[in-house]
Amino acid sequence: MAIHPLNTPVEIAATLARTGLCIVPDFLNTPTTRALFLDLKTLKKAGQFTRAGIGQGHQHTVHDHIRRDEVFWLDERLANLTQQQLWLKINALKQAFNRELYLGLRDFEGHYASYPKGGFYARHRDSFHHDEARRVSVIIYLNPRWKVTDGGQLRVYTPGHDTDISPIAGTLVCFLSHELEHEVLLSHKNRLSFSGWFKT
Ligand code: OGA
Ligand code: MN
Repeated sequence: MAIHPLNTPVEIAATLARTGLCIVPDFLNTPTTRALFLDLKTLKKAGQFTRAGIGQGHQHTVHDHIRRDEVFWLDERLANLTQQQLWLKINALKQAFNRELYLGLRDFEGHYASYPKGGFYARHRDSFHHDEARRVSVIIYLNPRWKVTDGGQLRVYTPGHDTDISPIAGTLVCFLSHELEHEVLLSHKNRLSFSGWFKT
């Protein structure tokens, strides 16, 4: 009997087109997730992370009451072997999103994020007022052994009800950046992820 794959890029794109949100547990296998987790930790230890802000260009400012994460922007041209596995996945998603969603996605920008204990990100949308280029948001979680009591859920404000997603290693979440407001609830542990945006 053929097993119907629920997490191929085309399936993910179809779900995204239908509902605006797609949650995929085990999008990355354990060895890849583990390697990315260690890569993030290494960069963090080397002092490569900086406090994340809000807005772009001149508008970019750090606000403790809105978000408290630190980030490291990844560059595909400088990718190490571990990061190359991530870019392969991202590029496969881009191709499927363009085929299924007709968004004309060209660029992608993405960063590792580290929320400290006590970190959060208040309710927001990912597209900026003066720049609507961000079309699809993707997040991949990297923490092994995350428990519900560790907090740090992503709350997505879907019409009619909210959806809370625990940041469990290997899980992919993607949603339409213009559509959905979301927030990161208070995290009681250091919370590690990769977030990125497909842009037109
Ligand atoms: C973001 C964001 C959500 C998450 O970086 O814009 O909303 O679950 N992240 O990390
Ligand atoms: Mn966001």
